[in-house]
Amino acid sequence: MRGLHEKDCDPDPFKQFDRWFAEAKKLSLQYPEAMALATATASGAPSVRMVLLKGVDANGFCFFTNYESRKGDELAQNPQVSLLFYWEPYERQIRIEGRIEKLTEAESYAYFSSRPRGSRIGAWASAQSSVLKSREELERRVQEYEKKFAKDDIPLPPYWGGYRCVPHAIEFWQGRVNRLHDRLLFTRDTEGWTRVRLSP
Ligand SMILES: Cc1cc2nc3c(=O)[nH]c(=O)nc-3n(C[C@H](O)[C@H](O)[C@H](O)COP(=O)(O)O)c2cc1C
Repeated sequence: MRGLHEKDCDPDPFKQFDRWFAEAKKLSLQYPEAMALATATASGAPSVRMVLLKGVDANGFCFFTNYESRKGDELAQNPQVSLLFYWEPYERQIRIEGRIEKLTEAESYAYFSSRPRGSRIGAWASAQSSVLKSREELERRVQEYEKKFAKDDIPLPPYWGGYRCVPHAIEFWQGRVNRLHDRLLFTRDTEGWTRVRLSP
């Protein structure tokens, strides 16, 4: 496996992310944009789940979800998050640490309205992370919202939208032989990004 040498790594970690992400998208993966999202309660108890990266802008990494879900609840208590990408065919992982901020309602609406009708109905029907009596209860709720929005545009649910992880650390990990992997860690302070190499 090709290594990650300092001279081949962009000094801007966002640009380096774009490079690796573009390469991951060339693989025949169903979800190259899948990432693990770790959150924690106010007292620091962690939880982790997969979400899909839906955009990278100058400030950070964006995803969408239900603000009243377990993750939404934890993010309201504690804005510190960690993201993880792993692209097995390239033996690459990217670890990101940062603080979360909510996207604006306009940004959330723009993404919500681009989703297929079934997903938009699903966002209304599912009180994500709450206990259901049965599968039938969920399906009944889907039918209710299908009926309710049969003629109208489907509005953005007030509890649904996006978050942005604004990173202060990004590590690029490239697998190498004999576990002598390459690890380039970027950290941000008021001056900008600094890069160091870590032991594998
Ligand atoms: C590949 C994959 C992608 C997913 N993408 C999302 C997503 O973008 N947003 C989301 O809310 N849940 C997504 N999920 C479901 C979450 O992993 C999780 O079950 C859900 O968000 C509830 O998590 P919570 O109870 O911790 O809030 C995805 C699951 C998988 C396996």
